[in-house]
Amino acid sequence: MERKMRLVEVRPTPAGHLAVMERFDDWNEPDGFPRIAGEQVVAGELYLRNLAPEDASMIVECDNDELSRRWALFPGSTQQRAENAARRGYLDWRLTDRAALTIAQSVDDAPVGLIKVRKLVPPGVADVGYQVRPGYRGRSYAARALEAFCRWSAAVGLFHRFELGIKPGNTASIRVAEKAGFTFEGRRAARLVDLDGGRADELHYARVILTGARQAADSNPAHITAGGHTVSTTRTH
Ligand SMILES: CC(C)(COP(=O)(O)OP(=O)(O)OC[C@H]1O[C@@H](n2cnc3c(N)ncnc32)[C@H](O)[C@@H]1OP(=O)(O)O)[C@@H](O)C(=O)NCCC(=O)NCCS
Repeated sequence: MERKMRLVEVRPTPAGHLAVMERFDDWNEPDGFPRIAGEQVVAGELYLRNLAPEDASMIVECDNDELSRRWALFPGSTQQRAENAARRGYLDWRLTDRAALTIAQSVDDAPVGLIKVRKLVPPGVADVGYQVRPGYRGRSYAARALEAFCRWSAAVGLFHRFELGIKPGNTASIRVAEKAGFTFEGRRAARLVDLDGGRADELHYARVILTGARQAADSNPAHITAGGHTVSTTRTH
């Protein structure tokens, strides 16, 4: 019988990180994400790869700059947290339902940002996010990396629908979503937390990529049928 493993805990030890695994034989849907063939998702002058320990300072930089703090949902990273995240990045990718990939520049392999992904409850639906180091912004890196991630995920059968949420006013992120082929699907009131304790609305964007047999399904992302009415999702912000 095929044996499957699930990550329960990662414990820091003097010798490194110890992964505590649970074995299970009764479930066909592992939590994790598939191995990346060739270890890179190539996106022109960029590529995506699994996190590595040397990415810790990039994570700290991405999480703590002023723009990221302005739009963040979670507290910034300490050096220790970032080191843990970088070190366990591959385990998170393979064994859990949320992970990140490093965006790297092909010319010099510099880590320039992150694509974050979480499996949502309906199978095949992803929540995605992105951050780019301040010194590398304004080169369409986030949009290109996001586009490559979506295409790769669809091609390997991992996801067919990608969702992301943006706080009103985050125009850089709105541009990324638009350039990566996402469609505005509506405004969700008070869905996002602000770090001052308040609540922000979410501008909800999605992209659908159907491959093979799934293409036959009716899934025009520009229209949603609700209660017998077809609602156009033309941008309204
Ligand atoms: C949002 C973010 C990932 C965009 O990354 P990026 O690779 O710079 O994206 P782009 O180069 O496509 O630029 C997007 C927009 O940012 C603005 N921009 C351009 N140059 C910029 C610069 N040097 N610095 C900051 N923003 C710039 C422009 O409005 C641009 O839109 P345009 O292409 O129509 O001119 C990046 O700004 C970031 O890390 N922000 C903080 C984290 C964040 O908000 N994440 C998204 C949460 S939903």
